[in-house]
Amino acid sequence: MYTVTKLEDYSPAALDMAVRELLSALDSESKGVNNKSDWKNFRDRWMARKNGILTQINDLWLKAAPAAAKREVGQRVNELKTCVTDIVETRRAIVESGLSKDAIARVTGVEARIEVGQIVAETRGRRLELDQLDITLPSIRRPIGAEHPVIKALNEIVSVFKAMGYSVSEGPEIETDYYNFEALNFPPNHPARDTQDTLFIAGQQSKPLRDRLLLRTHTSPVQIRTMEKLAPPIRVVIPGKVHRNDAPDASHSPMFHQVEGLAVDTNITFCDLKGTLDHAMKALFGSSVRTRFQPSFFPFTEPSAEVAISCIFCGGKGCRTCKQSGWIELLGCGMVDPNVFEFVRANGYDPAKVSGFAFGMGADRIALLKYGVDDIQLFFQGDVRFLEQFA
Ligand code: DAH
Repeated sequence: MYTVTKLEDYSPAALDMAVRELLSALDSESKGVNNKSDWKNFRDRWMARKNGILTQINDLWLKAAPAAAKREVGQRVNELKTCVTDIVETRRAIVESGLSKDAIARVTGVEARIEVGQIVAETRGRRLELDQLDITLPSIRRPIGAEHPVIKALNEIVSVFKAMGYSVSEGPEIETDYYNFEALNFPPNHPARDTQDTLFIAGQQSKPLRDRLLLRTHTSPVQIRTMEKLAPPIRVVIPGKVHRNDAPDASHSPMFHQVEGLAVDTNITFCDLKGTLDHAMKALFGSSVRTRFQPSFFPFTEPSAEVAISCIFCGGKGCRTCKQSGWIELLGCGMVDPNVFEFVRANGYDPAKVSGFAFGMGADRIALLKYGVDDIQLFFQGDVRFLEQFA
């Protein structure tokens, strides 16, 4: 441990020695300062008015110096005061800034080059950088995150339709019975309502049925909302979140995502629907993918179809994923039922004059297939180790 000793010899060479010895102690002690309490001890040892090292050199070196050496010694002592103050200050800034060990090592590297005279400039420069902003320091890196795979799939699906001239629309997740069911040709008490196990908002019994609130079970209600706002012709895709009272498992989640599509114009035919969806599936899954349309039922389309794509894993030969069928069912679609147009007839949708098609696809399911994920739950557990694989 460094201690200040009386000077026997006041020659410049001897003064240099003494100063260098002190600075080297200052340098190595300053490197051991890692936290606030280290720093307080460090400051007190060097700067305490009572018996700090600065006080000691003042007493033992300057006051004791013969008259002839006073000037010279006074200069050195002053310089040392600046050094000590600067280093102590620098250390305070480092400790308070919470800089990393690396950054501290960098600062220490500068201090290691301490030489009499140079030290003041070095520490001054360093302090400036700390107080202002050292743009050469690596910043604190916060992971900036990445697009969630489901959002990525939603965006990809939407952009495929945008390229075909579709616009994008959105609607509320808390919906009325009217938009979610009635205007889509699900009459009250119709059994088709049971195919979508609905989560209702509580305490709505006093309202007329059509005004009661629920969590939308599909994005189809936005078909009606869009037609209320825009007269035909329209081509629109509607991405969004939907809810059903389904027990979670590898392929089900009570919250999931859909992309709805709607095209209404004069003379829209089932051919247009087939061509559009065939193109979209090829754009999403690759040009070798084939599509298959099978008759189905939805209250809001007539005729309705279920679309499957040839299995993207086995090319249609049959594998575990497609349950040996060679096909993967992916979406529902159909020609807009005239009964649906009746609800928006006043806005230009006379079913005798316009026709249209609609479709709805599960974006989560498409994400599972596209990114080779085998459990939909992984999308919603928020495990960063899973999510960062999509960065
Ligand atoms: N809304 C349907 C569902 O969630 C999907 C659907 C089927 C949407 C046919 C459509 C459609 O627009 O025409 O099961």
